[in-house]
Amino acid sequence: MGKSNFSAHIQIRISISSVAMYLLKTWRSVAFGVYGYQNFTKKGFLEHSKNFRSEEMQARIEGKNCVVTGANSGIGYATAEGLAARGATVYIVCRSKERGEAARSKIQSATGNKNVHLEICDVSRIGDVKTLASRFSVKDEPVHILVNNAGVLEQKRLTTPEGYEMNFAVNVLGTYTMTELMLPLLEKAAPDARVITVASGGMYTSPLTEDLQFNSKEFNGVEQYARNKRVQVALTEKWAETNKDKGIGFYSMHPGWAETPGVSKSLPDFSKTLSGNLRTSEEGADTVIWLALQPKEKLVSGGFYFDRAEAPKHLPFTATKGSHSAIDSIIVKLHSLANL
Ligand SMILES: NC(=O)c1ccc[n+]([C@@H]2O[C@H](COP(=O)([O-])OP(=O)(O)OC[C@H]3O[C@@H](n4cnc5c(N)ncnc54)[C@H](OP(=O)(O)O)[C@@H]3O)[C@@H](O)[C@H]2O)c1
Repeated sequence: MGKSNFSAHIQIRISISSVAMYLLKTWRSVAFGVYGYQNFTKKGFLEHSKNFRSEEMQARIEGKNCVVTGANSGIGYATAEGLAARGATVYIVCRSKERGEAARSKIQSATGNKNVHLEICDVSRIGDVKTLASRFSVKDEPVHILVNNAGVLEQKRLTTPEGYEMNFAVNVLGTYTMTELMLPLLEKAAPDARVITVASGGMYTSPLTEDLQFNSKEFNGVEQYARNKRVQVALTEKWAETNKDKGIGFYSMHPGWAETPGVSKSLPDFSKTLSGNLRTSEEGADTVIWLALQPKEKLVSGGFYFDRAEAPKHLPFTATKGSHSAIDSIIVKLHSLANL
């Protein structure tokens, strides 16, 4: 093959692969948008709730210790309130003392449950997460339910004082470190312990990628968030496998599209466009609470849940499934970054 033929051949191949990637990404967004509009909105919740059984939410959980991160607003607040209303001892993990104290007293007066405790911790900081975990270790009490809810979608690249990209630091590294360090206390609550991670349907638009801090191209906060949520789902799958004999169940879930302070701040256009058709925070928290209350035999550890049922982790023809094999090397990286 002559030199010019060869370079034409390379150029055609490069442009075919970029067109194919462009089409695949477009399809992922379209599939997510259509599926989401039908299912993730308030209308979807009302439709799915026709199959809900009210008796499944009636269990009392006095004596169970629950830890909920990011519990001063939105879905985390509604989760903490729902668990406290059913008698649990709830530790709300918040980064702001002021917002945390306000949430604690509001939950206490709404539920009449005084066993609601505030733990200050910025989940984006490994140092803070480790300090929190040591405080719990000193208490030496079982943790029955850990809800990894704290999450952010920062549109701009921000860096934490420890040097990590902010979305990654909260959604992935903080969640990973918190869960790993809580495992011994969760084991104390075996066989009924569970870890519930509030992921997002946004992950449908992304495969699992090892570029954890979005260094390979120009920063895109929405894409980074989707990547982070995909990591949470794949981590949950892996935790279920590696801890299968420890009596701890691991579940990731999607709350649907709920009107929360986080959504109106991070996605103002989305929030305005879907105004009136978004779920309430309580509707977003419904499946978290459901996962906390069901007998474990009913649940699939490692599963991804939505509206009180197991949901697919991949949408059709989005070519995201094979990517989950990267989770082992991602865990090695997280372990090293968290210095565990
Ligand atoms: N709402 C939706 O439609 C939707 C859809 C899919 C998934 N989700 C997921 O649901 C979870 C809750 O989101 P939301 O919509 O309820 O948003 P939200 O109202 O902003 O709540 C997020 C909570 O996380 C806390 N948080 C953020 N960064 C933190 C940090 N570094 N350390 C400790 N706490 C931190 C926030 O505390 P501050 O008040 O201090 O910021 C807040 O309490 C997130 O994981 C989100 O990705 C939400």
